[in-house]
Amino acid sequence: MLLKLYIAAQLAALAFGQTTLIPSNSFSSFDSHWNYLYPWGTDHNGGARMDKSQVSTAQGYLTLTSKPVTGQPPAHHGGKDIPIHYLSGAIHAKKTFTVQAGGGFDFSADFIAPVDKGTWPAFWLTAVQGWPPEIDVAEWKGSGKISFNTFNTSSQVTALDVAYPNPKAWHTVRAEIRDANGRDVSVKFYLDNTLVATQHGSNYVNAGLYFIINYQMEGSSGSPGPSTTTTYSVRNVKVISYNP
Ligand SMILES: *[C@@H]1O[C@H](CO)[C@@H](O)[C@H](O)[C@H]1NC(C)=O
Repeated sequence: MLLKLYIAAQLAALAFGQTTLIPSNSFSSFDSHWNYLYPWGTDHNGGARMDKSQVSTAQGYLTLTSKPVTGQPPAHHGGKDIPIHYLSGAIHAKKTFTVQAGGGFDFSADFIAPVDKGTWPAFWLTAVQGWPPEIDVAEWKGSGKISFNTFNTSSQVTALDVAYPNPKAWHTVRAEIRDANGRDVSVKFYLDNTLVATQHGSNYVNAGLYFIINYQMEGSSGSPGPSTTTTYSVRNVKVISYNP
């Protein structure tokens, strides 16, 4: 009976063109799925410099640890110098993800994410070429809330901050990204399996996306950040493709 159910589920998955691109145990075979740092290197738009030493996959889940440091040269972003006050962790998927006409992806994971001022953990997608597209599947900008964002341009962005009670417990986020009309996508954001927002991204079909998990600091989350070591944990990261 169970075998029949299993076969039926596999056939249904095939019929709907559903493929698992990153399985929920990907941290057990890290090098098959992930690279360290950002796709472009160690620095971005905040006060943390990423370093492989700050990434752990013990117990099969990801922990990114931010520690205060002094004496680092500044980062450079958007024509400005940004002082580096932390070493922290970032990883990105080896694959890139392109929504095809008639297709899409689900991105999901469980999180214990810090929400204090100056802590800026994120789980997000950004354009391989140019910018946008960018979808912030989940980010926490030091306000106690969780944010869900989809960018058309730097000024045309749908952004939503949602209450995030009990941040020290695991929470689940899922984004269902689908071709809407052969050119744009719809993005449904779920927090703990409840739909909280539907957003739309312009010209996302056929545009490659990097998938990044990082623990940035300060920047959009305010400063000063914490004076102690803090962590961001992520488990059960899963990417399913619905591309034809
Ligand atoms: C972005 O573009 C999509 C598709 O055209 C549109 O539905 C959405 O409203 C736009 N977002 C904003 C913030 O204007």
